[in-house]
Amino acid sequence: MISFSIAFDPNKGIGYKNVMPWHIKEEFKVFRRNTMFKNIVMGQTTYDNLPGPLKDRYITVVSIDPDYHPEGVEVTNDLIAFLEEHENDETEYIICGGASIYRQAYPYCSKGYVSFIKKEYEVDTYFDVFDIDDWDVVQEEDYPEFTFRELIRKNEE
Ligand SMILES: NC(=O)c1ccc[n+]([C@@H]2O[C@H](COP(=O)([O-])OP(=O)(O)OC[C@H]3O[C@@H](n4cnc5c(N)ncnc54)[C@H](OP(=O)(O)O)[C@@H]3O)[C@@H](O)[C@H]2O)c1
Repeated sequence: MISFSIAFDPNKGIGYKNVMPWHIKEEFKVFRRNTMFKNIVMGQTTYDNLPGPLKDRYITVVSIDPDYHPEGVEVTNDLIAFLEEHENDETEYIICGGASIYRQAYPYCSKGYVSFIKKEYEVDTYFDVFDIDDWDVVQEEDYPEFTFRELIRKNEE
C-alpha cells in the first residue's frame, strides 16, 4: 500500500529554496506520529536537506545516481518500479516528498496524511497534482496554524 504525507499552504505550496517554507512544531509532531516505525520514501533533494536525522523510521531514498549510498538508508534508482512492486503490499510505504516524487507517486497513493497550512507562504515548489475531489476525509484535527486531515482515495468504480 502506498500513502503520502505532506503539508501545503492555501496555494498548494510545499517548499522554498529546497526546504520547507514554515517551521511549525505541532505539524512536525503530527508528521512524526504518522510515520513513526513505518517505511517512508523521499527524493534525494528532500533527504539531503533534512534539518536533522529522522529516527525510528525505515527510509528509502529515490535517486538517479547509482553511486549515491548514504549510510543507514535504502536507495532506489527507479521510483516507478518501486511503486509497482509495493502498491498491493499489506505493508504501508509513505511518500514524504519532494515535489517530483509526490507528482509521480500520486496516482499510486490510496491514503494521504495532509496538513492544510492556513497562512500563505513564499514558495517555489507546489503539489500541483493534488485534487481534494479525489479523496474522502476520514479524520480531521484542527490546530492554530493548520488542519490535519487523513484522506482515503474515493472508490473510482
Ligand atoms: N511540504 C512538505 O510536506 C514537503 C515534504 C517534502 C519535501 N518538500 C519540499 O519539496 C522540495 C524538493 O522537491 P524536489 O522535487 O526538488 O526534490 P525531491 O523530489 O526531494 O528529489 C528529487 C530527486 O529524486 C530524483 N528522482 C526523481 N524522480 C525519480 C525517479 N523516477 N527515479 C529515480 N530518481 C528520481 C531526482 O533526480 P533528477 O533531478 O535527475 O530528476 C532528484 O535527485 C523542497 O523544497 C522540500 O522542502 C516539502
